[in-house]
Amino acid sequence: MSATVDQPISVPSSIRKICCIGAGYVGGPTMAMIAKQCPHIEVHVVDINAARIAQWNSDELPVYEPGLLEVVSECRGRNLHFSTEVDSAIAEAEMIFISVNTPTKHFGVGAGRAANLEFIEKCARKIAEVARGHKIVVEKSTLPVRTAQAIKTILAGVSTGATFDVLSNPEFLAEGTAIEDLLMPDRVLIGGESQSAIDALVEVYANWVPPERLLTTNLWSSELSKLTANAFLAQRVSSINSISALCEATEADVDEVAAAIGMDSRIGPKFLKASVGFGGSCFQKDILNLVYLCEYFRLPEVAEYWEQVVKMNDYQKSRFVSRIVRTLFNTVSDKKIAIWGFAFKKDTNDTRESAAIYVCRDLLRERAKLSIYDPRVSPEHIRRELTDAMRNGDAELNATSAKLLAENVEIVSDIHVASSDAHAVALLTEWDEFREADFQRIHDGMKKPAFLFDGRNLLKDMSLSDYGFDYHGIGFSS
Ligand code: UDX
Ligand code: ADP
Repeated sequence: MSATVDQPISVPSSIRKICCIGAGYVGGPTMAMIAKQCPHIEVHVVDINAARIAQWNSDELPVYEPGLLEVVSECRGRNLHFSTEVDSAIAEAEMIFISVNTPTKHFGVGAGRAANLEFIEKCARKIAEVARGHKIVVEKSTLPVRTAQAIKTILAGVSTGATFDVLSNPEFLAEGTAIEDLLMPDRVLIGGESQSAIDALVEVYANWVPPERLLTTNLWSSELSKLTANAFLAQRVSSINSISALCEATEADVDEVAAAIGMDSRIGPKFLKASVGFGGSCFQKDILNLVYLCEYFRLPEVAEYWEQVVKMNDYQKSRFVSRIVRTLFNTVSDKKIAIWGFAFKKDTNDTRESAAIYVCRDLLRERAKLSIYDPRVSPEHIRRELTDAMRNGDAELNATSAKLLAENVEIVSDIHVASSDAHAVALLTEWDEFREADFQRIHDGMKKPAFLFDGRNLLKDMSLSDYGFDYHGIGFSS
């Protein structure tokens, strides 16, 4: 059985009103898809950030995702609503999704590893305060295993007589393909203890997801599966990136190696693209979370094993910078470097943990002058990310970092401006438009030799040396 976007299958569902707390990259698109596929369900997305809600109510959505605006425009005002009315939305809903951010903790116990569950806890307390009758509470945010226990404990403390079931329903969408992933998920995972609550959520998804893709498990397996899926995916990227270093030393070509091993059906071809390093809000955070859990449960060998995936990713980013510095005659001081792309991958405006942040920070520390262009990320956002990176956990920027940010960073609105008079280009996000650049014009405008460091191997097949570029990619010797 398969469903199309236009013809939702009508399955009777006991749920008529859903509330989602958190209108971010996960909550917004997920709820828009539920509203689209379930016209009989009222979906109310709430957030404490009024500016974000205003954007969801405009045509400039806060999240850039191909196809998202169409889905939102179809449902908004019909059965999809965005507001800051957290209390009333909770009170009216039969099912409440928690989809708030769970960043890595930067302070106190578990700093740098554990997830900061402050926002989750605040949501649970808010639900406990406002809810009446029976509610199904669904964890959508990625969480450490056994967070549901904390939510249950908080909810159990209510004196209003309200009752709750807690489900885990982790989101597996990838940014840039969120709409496709939501429309045709590989699987929807629902973990819980109450069969009736599980059935209620299964009924919602059954409006468009084939039954064989609806997987139900116990609560803890569901929580752990999300962390494990992200850890395995990140591990594949770190594995191929580790081999890319060896390829550069041995004249092997990492893309050829990836193609060869990917044809083994046990390995498979996906997620084997060597790059400047993985980014995004999930991979590093989830692995660090896994590491913290393993340490907490006194499994140091397991913790160390997974931590290596993050270490390899850090190595890949710093290796990329070292290669630029080494190739530019051991100094980039006062040299202009054009940065092509700042998002953590193409087709998103998200920069969380983007490799570009760390590459730019390290180039700045080498006193390079950066001219940055990204088609979707705003200049203010790029500056904020770089400022945070240069602060390096300190409350204030030191004088040197402040000066470097003020004098050595410009953010421009096209790659030609970025590249004009540059000593080198560093391509950090695989935006399609970079393949359509006027390479002759770019080369002519650059200082010679014109170096191009391709952190995504995006331009590898484009014979850039024919234009005169000194081209360097990942995982092969130039
Ligand atoms: C990921 C998971 O894929 C998704 O299931 C989960 O819900 C959230 O985390 P996302 O972070 O949006 O999704 O992006 P993804 O496509 O997984 O890419 C993550 C990072 O790995 C990006 O920086 C990407 O450029 C990089 N990557 C991915 C590679 O470098 N090589 C690859 O082969 C694949
Ligand atoms: P994700 O990628 O997990 O969706 P985001 O940071 O994009 O994360 O979105 C999380 C959203 O949750 C933010 O818009 C934030 O304002 C919102 N949020 C955090 N805490 C609360 C809360 N207690 N009540 C309502 N919204 C919240």
